[in-house]
Amino acid sequence: MARMTTYRIRQMKKKGKKIVMLTAYDAPSASILSDAGVDIILVGDSVGNSLLGYESTIPVRLEDVIHHCAAVARAKPNSFIVGDMPFMTYKVSVEQALKNCSRMLQEGSAEAVKIEGGSPCIVKTVKAVVDAGIPVMGHIGLTPQSVYEFGGYRVQGRTADATEELIEQAQELEKAGVFSLVIELVPSESAKLITESVDIPTIGIGAGPFCDGQVLVLWDMLGLFEDFKPKFLKKYADIRKIIRDAVSNYASDVREGTFPSFEHSFEMSEEESGRLYGRSQPSKR
Ligand code: KIV
Repeated sequence: MARMTTYRIRQMKKKGKKIVMLTAYDAPSASILSDAGVDIILVGDSVGNSLLGYESTIPVRLEDVIHHCAAVARAKPNSFIVGDMPFMTYKVSVEQALKNCSRMLQEGSAEAVKIEGGSPCIVKTVKAVVDAGIPVMGHIGLTPQSVYEFGGYRVQGRTADATEELIEQAQELEKAGVFSLVIELVPSESAKLITESVDIPTIGIGAGPFCDGQVLVLWDMLGLFEDFKPKFLKKYADIRKIIRDAVSNYASDVREGTFPSFEHSFEMSEEESGRLYGRSQPSKR
């Protein structure tokens, strides 16, 4: 597969081809996603909940995402790499946003950044970042970095007025130059109207079937977390059970002395072994 680009991502909407996006935070996962033909890898600030043990994305630092993004990039995936800008790394000033977004490309080797929000202030920042030559993916609806403002992880755009507001945000972000837009946790009807109101592709999560693409957090769809069962999530594997069973089998083998066996061990030549042990060579199990 040829490498994915912002141009090809935009073209996919025009051609009616669905965009496949997943998160990854490390080189082996990125390599698997690329092999499986995933179009976009998002190095999300969801690394906070998924890997770092935080309860929200708020404690995640720019350095955390840069670190994981660089690991993803070292896998040289064909998928397009987007680095997620963490909480308060782009809201203090346009200068701060430009400096931090450029770090995501220079130190994290991302090819684009994702910025949450659709307020006039964010739109102004997005425009400055795009004008500086850094591709931006927008993100509206439930923006997890504002979880305290929303009063929890609640579905957004449930009313006609709220949907109108989201459509306006999507159009303003499109004018500011975003090449695509994540829509999170909104009713299908709202996502459909937002998707129809812009030429850039929309990528949904908890936003129904009418977006131009779909994103999920890799470890959620692989079933790493037993208790995380939001309505929008489809689990494609039970990786937690697979890992737990493998680890228990390993532990039993070690405790029972069946691993390591000679099959997994290195041997000296018979001559050297004889010199070392004389007549009492260790018996092979
Ligand atoms: O951080 C993340 O993984 C995200 C996706 C859920 C869109 O923002």
